[in-house]
Amino acid sequence: MKDYASLIDRERVPRHVAIIMDGNGRWAKKRSLPRVEGHRRGAQVIESLMDAAIELGIGVVSLYAFSTENWSRPKDEIAGIWRLLEIFFEANIEKIRGKGVLLRHSGSMRHLPASTRRIIEDSVGQTRGNGVITLNFCLNYGGRQELLDAVNGWAASRRPGDRITGRALERHLYTAGLPDVDLLIRTSGEHRISNFLLWQVAYAEMIFTRVLWPDFKPRHLYRMIYEYQQRDRRFGGL
Ligand code: FPP
Repeated sequence: MKDYASLIDRERVPRHVAIIMDGNGRWAKKRSLPRVEGHRRGAQVIESLMDAAIELGIGVVSLYAFSTENWSRPKDEIAGIWRLLEIFFEANIEKIRGKGVLLRHSGSMRHLPASTRRIIEDSVGQTRGNGVITLNFCLNYGGRQELLDAVNGWAASRRPGDRITGRALERHLYTAGLPDVDLLIRTSGEHRISNFLLWQVAYAEMIFTRVLWPDFKPRHLYRMIYEYQQRDRRFGGL
Protein backbone atom coordinates (compact mmCIF):
# COMPACT_ATOMS: atom_id res chain seq x y z
CA MET A 1 0.00 0.00 0.00
CA LYS A 2 1.21 3.54 -0.81
CA ASP A 3 2.53 5.70 2.00
CA TYR A 4 -0.64 7.77 2.22
CA ALA A 5 0.42 9.48 5.45
CA SER A 6 3.04 11.47 3.55
CA LEU A 7 0.53 12.44 0.81
CA ILE A 8 -1.99 14.03 3.18
CA ASP A 9 -2.37 17.80 3.15
CA ARG A 10 -2.14 18.60 6.85
CA GLU A 11 -3.98 21.88 6.32
CA ARG A 12 -7.13 20.15 5.10
CA VAL A 13 -7.76 17.24 7.44
CA PRO A 14 -11.41 16.68 8.41
CA ARG A 15 -12.39 18.40 11.63
CA HIS A 16 -14.80 15.65 12.66
CA VAL A 17 -14.50 11.97 11.72
CA ALA A 18 -17.33 9.61 12.74
CA ILE A 19 -16.82 5.85 12.64
CA ILE A 20 -19.30 2.98 12.57
CA MET A 21 -17.07 0.22 13.96
CA ASP A 22 -18.77 -2.71 12.26
CA GLY A 23 -17.77 -6.33 11.72
CA ASN A 24 -16.63 -7.45 15.17
CA GLY A 25 -19.03 -10.38 15.15
CA ARG A 26 -17.98 -11.57 11.69
CA TRP A 27 -14.31 -11.21 12.65
CA ALA A 28 -14.91 -13.52 15.60
CA LYS A 29 -17.07 -15.97 13.65
CA LYS A 30 -14.36 -16.42 11.01
CA ARG A 31 -12.08 -17.58 13.82
CA SER A 32 -14.73 -19.65 15.64
CA LEU A 33 -14.46 -17.30 18.61
CA PRO A 34 -17.32 -15.90 20.70
CA ARG A 35 -18.68 -12.58 19.39
CA VAL A 36 -17.55 -10.74 22.48
CA GLU A 37 -13.95 -11.61 21.56
CA GLY A 38 -14.51 -9.64 18.36
CA HIS A 39 -15.67 -6.67 20.44
CA ARG A 40 -12.61 -7.06 22.69
CA ARG A 41 -10.29 -6.95 19.69
CA GLY A 42 -12.32 -4.05 18.31
CA ALA A 43 -11.80 -2.08 21.51
CA GLN A 44 -8.05 -2.60 21.18
CA VAL A 45 -8.06 -0.82 17.81
CA ILE A 46 -9.12 2.45 19.43
CA GLU A 47 -5.74 3.37 20.92
CA SER A 48 -3.78 3.27 17.65
CA LEU A 49 -6.68 4.97 15.86
CA MET A 50 -6.61 7.86 18.33
CA ASP A 51 -2.82 8.16 18.10
CA ALA A 52 -3.11 8.47 14.31
CA ALA A 53 -5.98 10.97 14.62
CA ILE A 54 -3.92 13.10 17.03
CA GLU A 55 -0.92 12.91 14.73
CA LEU A 56 -3.08 14.12 11.83
CA GLY A 57 -4.63 16.96 13.79
CA ILE A 58 -8.23 15.72 13.56
CA GLY A 59 -10.38 17.67 16.03
CA VAL A 60 -13.14 15.20 16.89
CA VAL A 61 -13.55 11.44 16.54
CA SER A 62 -17.02 10.02 17.19
CA LEU A 63 -17.26 6.27 17.73
CA TYR A 64 -20.52 4.33 17.50
CA ALA A 65 -20.03 1.82 20.30
CA PHE A 66 -23.64 0.85 21.09
CA SER A 67 -26.85 1.90 19.36
CA THR A 68 -30.37 2.20 20.73
CA GLU A 69 -31.14 -0.79 18.48
CA ASN A 70 -28.34 -2.98 19.89
CA TRP A 71 -30.53 -3.82 22.92
CA SER A 72 -32.13 -6.52 20.76
CA ARG A 73 -28.91 -8.56 20.92
CA PRO A 74 -28.49 -11.53 23.28
CA LYS A 75 -28.18 -10.47 26.94
CA ASP A 76 -24.73 -12.00 27.36
CA GLU A 77 -23.34 -10.08 24.38
CA ILE A 78 -24.73 -6.81 25.76
CA ALA A 79 -23.30 -7.54 29.22
CA GLY A 80 -19.97 -8.35 27.54
CA ILE A 81 -19.90 -4.96 25.82
CA TRP A 82 -20.59 -3.08 29.09
CA ARG A 83 -17.85 -5.06 30.81
CA LEU A 84 -15.43 -4.32 27.95
CA LEU A 85 -16.22 -0.63 28.19
CA GLU A 86 -15.52 -0.66 31.91
CA ILE A 87 -12.21 -2.48 31.36
CA PHE A 88 -11.34 -0.13 28.50
CA PHE A 89 -11.81 3.04 30.56
CA GLU A 90 -10.22 1.59 33.70
CA ALA A 91 -7.16 0.43 31.78
CA ASN A 92 -6.76 3.45 29.51
CA ILE A 93 -7.97 6.55 31.32
CA GLU A 94 -4.48 7.57 32.48
CA LYS A 95 -3.12 7.32 28.94
CA ILE A 96 -6.17 9.04 27.46
CA ARG A 97 -5.82 11.91 29.92
CA GLY A 98 -2.06 12.11 29.39
CA LYS A 99 -2.46 12.48 25.65
CA GLY A 100 -4.76 15.47 26.11
CA VAL A 101 -7.91 13.70 24.90
CA LEU A 102 -11.21 15.31 25.93
CA LEU A 103 -13.79 12.55 26.41
CA ARG A 104 -17.46 13.10 25.72
CA HIS A 105 -20.45 10.84 25.75
CA SER A 106 -23.38 10.97 23.35
CA GLY A 107 -26.53 9.00 24.01
CA SER A 108 -28.75 8.26 26.95
CA MET A 109 -26.99 6.89 30.03
CA ARG A 110 -30.30 5.62 31.35
CA HIS A 111 -30.51 1.82 31.22
CA LEU A 112 -26.73 1.36 31.32
CA PRO A 113 -25.53 -0.67 34.31
CA ALA A 114 -24.74 1.67 37.22
CA SER A 115 -21.10 0.53 37.32
CA THR A 116 -20.59 1.31 33.61
CA ARG A 117 -22.26 4.68 33.99
CA ARG A 118 -20.09 5.56 36.96
CA ILE A 119 -16.85 4.64 35.19
CA ILE A 120 -17.78 6.57 32.05
CA GLU A 121 -18.89 9.66 33.98
CA ASP A 122 -15.74 9.51 36.08
CA SER A 123 -13.55 9.12 32.96
CA VAL A 124 -15.25 12.03 31.21
CA GLY A 125 -14.72 14.14 34.33
CA GLN A 126 -11.04 13.24 34.48
CA THR A 127 -10.40 14.64 31.00
CA ARG A 128 -12.19 17.94 31.58
CA GLY A 129 -9.98 20.79 30.41
CA ASN A 130 -8.15 18.68 27.79
CA GLY A 131 -8.22 19.92 24.22
CA VAL A 132 -5.81 18.06 21.91
CA ILE A 133 -8.67 16.05 20.43
CA THR A 134 -12.25 15.17 21.41
CA LEU A 135 -13.23 11.50 21.61
CA ASN A 136 -17.01 11.33 21.48
CA PHE A 137 -18.22 7.93 22.64
CA CYS A 138 -21.69 7.22 21.27
CA LEU A 139 -23.29 4.76 23.63
CA ASN A 140 -26.93 3.82 23.75
CA TYR A 141 -27.04 6.33 20.93
CA GLY A 142 -29.71 6.73 18.26
CA GLY A 143 -29.93 9.63 15.82
CA ARG A 144 -33.71 9.78 15.89
CA GLN A 145 -33.77 9.65 19.68
CA GLU A 146 -31.20 12.45 19.76
CA LEU A 147 -33.41 14.62 17.55
CA LEU A 148 -36.48 13.88 19.68
CA ASP A 149 -34.58 14.66 22.88
CA ALA A 150 -33.30 17.88 21.32
CA VAL A 151 -36.77 19.02 20.24
CA ASN A 152 -38.20 18.20 23.67
CA GLY A 153 -35.31 20.00 25.35
CA TRP A 154 -35.90 23.04 23.18
CA ALA A 155 -39.69 22.94 23.79
CA ALA A 156 -39.15 22.86 27.54
CA SER A 157 -37.32 26.19 27.40
CA ARG A 158 -39.42 27.72 24.63
CA ARG A 159 -41.03 31.11 25.08
CA PRO A 160 -44.43 31.84 23.44
CA GLY A 161 -43.97 32.64 19.75
CA ASP A 162 -40.50 31.05 19.51
CA ARG A 163 -39.91 28.93 16.40
CA ILE A 164 -37.23 26.30 16.34
CA THR A 165 -34.15 27.06 14.23
CA GLY A 166 -31.22 24.87 13.22
CA ARG A 167 -28.94 26.71 15.63
CA ALA A 168 -31.41 26.31 18.49
CA LEU A 169 -31.82 22.60 17.76
CA GLU A 170 -28.06 22.09 17.65
CA ARG A 171 -27.72 23.59 21.11
CA HIS A 172 -29.85 20.71 22.40
CA LEU A 173 -28.14 17.86 20.54
CA TYR A 174 -25.87 15.51 22.49
CA THR A 175 -23.08 16.86 20.28
CA ALA A 176 -23.73 20.54 21.11
CA GLY A 177 -20.62 22.57 20.41
CA LEU A 178 -19.03 19.96 18.12
CA PRO A 179 -18.64 20.66 14.39
CA ASP A 180 -20.67 18.77 11.77
CA VAL A 181 -19.22 15.45 10.64
CA ASP A 182 -16.86 15.88 7.66
CA LEU A 183 -16.08 12.21 7.11
CA LEU A 184 -18.19 9.17 8.00
CA ILE A 185 -16.41 5.82 7.88
CA ARG A 186 -18.10 2.43 8.06
CA THR A 187 -16.16 -0.80 8.15
CA SER A 188 -17.16 -4.36 7.20
CA GLY A 189 -18.68 -3.72 3.77
CA GLU A 190 -22.10 -2.48 4.91
CA HIS A 191 -23.38 0.67 3.21
CA ARG A 192 -25.79 2.15 5.72
CA ILE A 193 -25.95 5.06 8.19
CA SER A 194 -27.83 2.98 10.78
CA ASN A 195 -29.27 5.92 12.71
CA PHE A 196 -25.84 7.47 13.41
CA LEU A 197 -25.52 11.25 13.84
CA LEU A 198 -28.37 11.89 11.40
CA TRP A 199 -28.35 15.68 11.73
CA GLN A 200 -24.57 15.98 11.83
CA VAL A 201 -23.79 13.91 8.69
CA ALA A 202 -25.92 16.08 6.38
CA TYR A 203 -22.89 17.02 4.24
CA ALA A 204 -20.40 14.38 5.35
CA GLU A 205 -18.29 12.51 2.84
CA MET A 206 -18.73 8.77 3.29
CA ILE A 207 -16.12 6.08 2.93
CA PHE A 208 -16.95 2.41 3.21
CA THR A 209 -14.38 -0.35 3.49
CA ARG A 210 -14.64 -4.13 3.60
CA VAL A 211 -12.05 -4.25 6.37
CA LEU A 212 -13.61 -5.65 9.56
CA TRP A 213 -13.25 -3.31 12.54
CA PRO A 214 -10.80 -5.48 14.55
CA ASP A 215 -8.48 -5.44 11.50
CA PHE A 216 -8.62 -1.65 11.10
CA LYS A 217 -5.13 -0.10 11.18
CA PRO A 218 -3.82 3.48 11.14
CA ARG A 219 -2.79 2.95 7.50
CA HIS A 220 -6.47 2.47 6.62
CA LEU A 221 -7.28 5.81 8.26
CA TYR A 222 -4.45 7.55 6.41
CA ARG A 223 -5.68 6.16 3.09
CA MET A 224 -9.21 7.35 3.84
CA ILE A 225 -8.12 10.84 4.83
CA TYR A 226 -6.20 11.00 1.55
CA GLU A 227 -9.28 9.83 -0.37
CA TYR A 228 -11.42 12.39 1.49
CA GLN A 229 -9.03 15.13 0.31
CA GLN A 230 -9.57 14.09 -3.32
CA ARG A 231 -13.33 14.68 -3.03
CA ASP A 232 -14.95 17.87 -4.25
CA ARG A 233 -17.15 19.09 -1.38
CA ARG A 234 -19.73 21.50 -2.70
CA PHE A 235 -22.25 21.63 0.17
CA GLY A 236 -25.08 22.00 -2.35
CA GLY A 237 -23.32 24.77 -4.31
CA LEU A 238 -21.48 24.53 -7.62
C1 FPP B 1 -20.56 -3.80 15.42
O1 FPP B 1 -20.10 -5.08 15.10
C2 FPP B 1 -20.05 -3.41 16.70
C3 FPP B 1 -20.79 -3.14 17.81
C4 FPP B 1 -22.26 -3.23 17.84
C5 FPP B 1 -20.14 -2.78 19.05
C6 FPP B 1 -18.92 -1.96 18.89
C7 FPP B 1 -18.17 -2.17 20.10
C8 FPP B 1 -16.82 -2.15 20.19
C9 FPP B 1 -15.87 -1.84 19.11
C10 FPP B 1 -16.21 -2.50 21.46
C11 FPP B 1 -16.73 -1.66 22.55
C12 FPP B 1 -15.87 -0.52 22.71
C13 FPP B 1 -15.10 -0.41 23.76
C14 FPP B 1 -14.21 0.73 23.88
C15 FPP B 1 -15.07 -1.42 24.81
P1 FPP B 1 -21.15 -6.25 14.97
O2 FPP B 1 -21.21 -6.95 16.30
O3 FPP B 1 -22.44 -5.72 14.48
O4 FPP B 1 -20.45 -7.15 13.92
P2 FPP B 1 -21.18 -8.07 12.83
O5 FPP B 1 -22.00 -7.15 11.96
O6 FPP B 1 -20.02 -8.70 12.10
O7 FPP B 1 -22.00 -9.07 13.58
